[in-house]
Amino acid sequence: MFESLFSPLQINGITVKNRLLVPAMVTNFATEEGLCTPKLASYHEAKAKGGWGLIITEDYAVAPEGRGFRGVPGLWTDEQMESHKAIPEAVHKYDGAKIFASYQLLMYLWEIRM
Ligand SMILES: Cc1cc2nc3c(=O)[nH]c(=O)nc-3n(C[C@H](O)[C@H](O)[C@H](O)COP(=O)(O)O)c2cc1C
Repeated sequence: MFESLFSPLQINGITVKNRLLVPAMVTNFATEEGLCTPKLASYHEAKAKGGWGLIITEDYAVAPEGRGFRGVPGLWTDEQMESHKAIPEAVHKYDGAKIFASYQLLMYLWEIRM
């Protein structure tokens, strides 16, 4: 009954070991400067350890104006990018678990709506 759920999936050349996917969910676990925290890295690590095949991160802001919440992870400085490497490093310890980053572009959406 669950053969499909536990069979691998190909996404753009990447093999995901099963169909168990964690959708993007805001955590507010990053710092106000958008840096990764041990709590954020261990949140994702726990999912990988539990056997999820693919984890989608919450939205990363790519510019300070694009943040929609407090504690949003950011990727507009070298320091932020360096700090968030802790997440894939933690996730990849577990049996082929994969993680994709999602991005938040709220400022562009607001511009379109205006
Ligand atoms: C607490 C919470 C936080 C969420 N954060 C995000 C997010 O950061 N980015 C996003 O695209 N979707 C976010 N979502 C939407 C979930 O990814 C979405 O609910 C999930 O894909 C399930 O879809 P469904 O509600 O249509 O079943 C969030 C949902 C919840 C409940």
